[in-house]
Amino acid sequence: MSDTSREPSVFVRACHGESVPHLPVWFMRQAGRSLPEYRSIRADIPMLEALRRPDLIREITLQPVRRHGVDAAILFSDIVVPLAAAGIDLDLKPGVGPVIAEPIRDPAAVAAVPVLEPAQVDFVAEAVGLLVEELSGTPLIGFAGAPFTLASYLIEGGPSRTYERTKALMHGAPDVWHALCSRLADITLTFVRVQVAAGVSAVQLFDSWAGALSEADYRRYVMPHSATVLSGLAESGVPRIHFGVGTGHMLPAMAEAGADVVGVDWRTPLDTAAALLGPNFAVQGNLDPAVLFAPWPVVEAEVRRIVAEGRAAHGHVFNLGHGVLPDTDPEVLTRVVALVHEVSAA
Ligand code: CP3
Repeated sequence: MSDTSREPSVFVRACHGESVPHLPVWFMRQAGRSLPEYRSIRADIPMLEALRRPDLIREITLQPVRRHGVDAAILFSDIVVPLAAAGIDLDLKPGVGPVIAEPIRDPAAVAAVPVLEPAQVDFVAEAVGLLVEELSGTPLIGFAGAPFTLASYLIEGGPSRTYERTKALMHGAPDVWHALCSRLADITLTFVRVQVAAGVSAVQLFDSWAGALSEADYRRYVMPHSATVLSGLAESGVPRIHFGVGTGHMLPAMAEAGADVVGVDWRTPLDTAAALLGPNFAVQGNLDPAVLFAPWPVVEAEVRRIVAEGRAAHGHVFNLGHGVLPDTDPEVLTRVVALVHEVSAA
């Protein structure tokens, strides 16, 4: 939080594949239950309420930046925030995730999916404004859920391992599927445009569960809708990060959807990802979040391997391969930040 200049940050430069003095590092889910200061601030406040309060969004977003010295903040929000703001009845159940009161499974329910008006997320714009001011140079990453991942929650009614209803609708009623995803792409684009207008330095599109699809189905049923969101951000000039879990078989498709940076989970080495993606895309990742529970020498060796493999890419933003697990020792995360900076310094 010390850099007061408005020069592009190390993080933004790495996203564009420009040379950097050290690798930037941040962690998906860096704000959250791994931090005692998060648990204490959330103790008496339900999740959906915390997500609507600019003062709490501000404080929770800053906590990991203060503690770990990461190179970017990520807005404290959730993929369901724009859905709830637009009027869809849902909850975030602790230990479970999003739960939808009336799952969307037929044309009438799809037709009733509301539009998001920018004013319905003005609390997000206000929080971003506060944060950009206070972060003074540390970039703030905005984000949203991608149409497939949002659709999977809305159709299944909650988390799923198999996506059976989602895939049944996608294949059995493609018109209904595409109508739903195009409404979700509109909501998502409105939500990320509000964040960009308020001052975020980059946007990450989380298609966390898209890896459940074959590449062919991804290209046919999902990519056009994610492309609506990502191409809708193109003229803003902010880097666009596109992330999913278990997507090693379709990284080029995720890049082609309109990304500048492709998120890679721990299953695919970054040099392999770089070879698949070619010279026009940076990569983000990919330490296995479960490795943080191993003894430090193991963590250190893995960090060094990932930094070395990332050199094959056009640009590299160090991160985990998925979010911080709630029982992670935050001291280990702080040590990882220092180590990445040290081993990557030119
Ligand atoms: O990265 C960050 O620090 C920003 C915070 C963030 C949250 N949700 C806050 C949150 C981000 C980036 C998200 C995105 C999100 N939400 C995704 C995509 C990222 C991913 O992990 O793949 C998804 C799939 C969701 C849906 C969701 N919301 C889940 C699966 C859960 C966890 C349920 C649980 O309790 O284990 C949530 C709730 C949630 N969102 C929490 C946080 C900090 C935990 C709730 C709590 O603190 O009580």
